[in-house]
Amino acid sequence: MNTFLSLNHHMELPDDVFRLLRDAIYKRTGMWFAESSKYLLQKRLSPRARELNFESFQKYFYFLQYDPRAEAEFDQIYDLITTNETYFFREPAQLAAFVDEIVPDILSRKSFNKIRIWSAGCSSGEEPYSLAILLEEAGYYEHATFEIFASDINQSVLARARRGHYRENAFRATEAALREKYFVREDDGAWRIRDEVRNRVSFGRLNLYDEARVSLLGHLDVILCRNVIIYFDDASKKIVVSNFYNRLTDGGYLLLGHSESLIRLGVFSVEIVIVDRLAQLDLVFAFDLVVVRWLSFLACHHIPQCRVLRMRCPLLPQERRIGRRSFSKRVGAVRRRIMFDFTKS
Ligand SMILES: C[S@@+](CC[C@H](N)C(=O)[O-])C[C@H]1O[C@@H](n2cnc3c(N)ncnc32)[C@H](O)[C@@H]1O
Repeated sequence: MNTFLSLNHHMELPDDVFRLLRDAIYKRTGMWFAESSKYLLQKRLSPRARELNFESFQKYFYFLQYDPRAEAEFDQIYDLITTNETYFFREPAQLAAFVDEIVPDILSRKSFNKIRIWSAGCSSGEEPYSLAILLEEAGYYEHATFEIFASDINQSVLARARRGHYRENAFRATEAALREKYFVREDDGAWRIRDEVRNRVSFGRLNLYDEARVSLLGHLDVILCRNVIIYFDDASKKIVVSNFYNRLTDGGYLLLGHSESLIRLGVFSVEIVIVDRLAQLDLVFAFDLVVVRWLSFLACHHIPQCRVLRMRCPLLPQERRIGRRSFSKRVGAVRRRIMFDFTKS
């Protein structure tokens, strides 16, 4: 047999096995693979099934269902099916808001100058290292303590994060001066992050769907979960965001990616703060979800230089609406904030 062909030929993934497999993955992680993703799963998992000498996906699935080693095998599967695209200083306006607005706001409310941050779904570490660098650049480490936790479900990307070696592509949004300052060029052309930055971040493996293990993190002041829940359906987004909500301290912040929204979930009552930093304007609104949608549109398309749309969630997740009348009463009870970045580029 032609070896090249046999290596590249994917094992057939029948529709019924695809559905069983994707439901098993969904139940464990919240990641949702629509029917259109069947080929993707087939392509990514065929080599693994072959490596384990399964003749068919049926047999592989049978193993995943009944074998005592199945959970360890699912861990291997997550390494193969997650999308790990990331780079340093991604979504910079939001990171600027983190340094210029969020950190000072949290410090102003703390008796001990200690902030706990969690990068949830950190991939190969560019996001948490960017935070550590920005905090250093802003001089915060001189008068405050920061704990930065970073986690992912994928063990391979975590190993890369801990190693801290990066190629050119990771620096597509990084100023050359910052790279020179915080990285060392290796003989093979890669850039190694300096130990001073590396030691500021603790990495750990964590499935965001595993509430019991997530709760071991204790309370966090800031959670970044950017470009992760785009792979989830609405039901699993709700579960994961509720877990975040339980982990956030009063007045803590959740930062989501540009293309992520909780609005469609329909369970979050929100107070919105639009911060237009150039005009030093801080507008506060509290409306129901229809208005939230309208405001998102407004922020994106009509308000010049609108930098941040910050959503505060007074009561989650049972409350469906917050009307104008109840606003003043609730404002004192604001507990968590959820922030989106609708920066106009
Ligand atoms: C596209 S990367 C985003 C990396 C970084 N946050 C950023 O915005 O550049 C998404 C990461 O989420 C992780 N992920 C997906 N589902 C997860 C889950 N259930 N628990 C933990 N991590 C998960 C993936 O392994 C992947 O590394």
